[in-house]
Amino acid sequence: MSEDKKIFNSIGLVIAVLAGIAILISIVATSLIDDSSTSTAWQEKKVLDRIKPLGVVATTAEEAKKATPKLEAAPVVASGPMSAEQVYNTACLACHSTGVAGAPKTGDLAAWAPRIAQGEDVLFEHATKGFKGMPPRGGSSQLSDDEVKAAIGFMLAKSQ
Ligand code: HEC
Repeated sequence: MSEDKKIFNSIGLVIAVLAGIAILISIVATSLIDDSSTSTAWQEKKVLDRIKPLGVVATTAEEAKKATPKLEAAPVVASGPMSAEQVYNTACLACHSTGVAGAPKTGDLAAWAPRIAQGEDVLFEHATKGFKGMPPRGGSSQLSDDEVKAAIGFMLAKSQ
C-alpha cells in the first residue's frame, strides 16, 4: 500500500509542477498580448482591412461614380460641332486616304486639280448629295453642312 501511496504522491507532484508551469505560461502569454496590442479597436480595423472584399457591386449611380472616378473624366463623344480634322478623320479618311472606288486621295494634287476647277459650290453639292462612288456626306448623314464644308476645306488645303 505504501508503494501505491508513493506513486500517487509523485504523480500528484508532477501534476502540481505541470499545473504550475501552465499557469506561468498563461500569465506570461497574457502579459505579452496586453503589451503588444493595447487597442482592440485598432486590431479590429486591421483585420477588417485585411478581409475586406476586393470589389463591391454599385447599385446607385452615386456609388458607381465613387468606385470609378474615371467615369467623369472619360472623353465625351464629340457633342457640339467637330473640328474640320475630326470630321475628316471620322467620316472621310477611310476612302480619301486610300483612294477607295476612285476617290481622289487627300494630297494628290493631280487628282484634285480638275475637281477644284469645278468650283467649291459643285464640290460641296457633290459631297452632300453624293456623286458616283461618293456617298452623300461620305455616308455620315448626321454631319451638318458646315462640317462637310470644313472637311472639304481640310482636304483641299492638303491637296493644292
Ligand atoms: C465610301 C467612300 C467615301 C467616303 C467615306 C467619302 N468619300 Fe468623298 N469621294 C468618294 C469617291 C469614290 C469620290 C470620287 C467620285 C467620282 O468622281 O467618281 C469622292 C469624291 C469626293 C469629292 C469630289 C467631288 C467632285 O465633284 O469631284 C469631294 C469634295 C468629297 N469626295 C468629299 C468628301 C468628304 C468631305 C467626305 C467626308 C465627309 C467624303 N468625301 C467621304 C468616296 C468617299
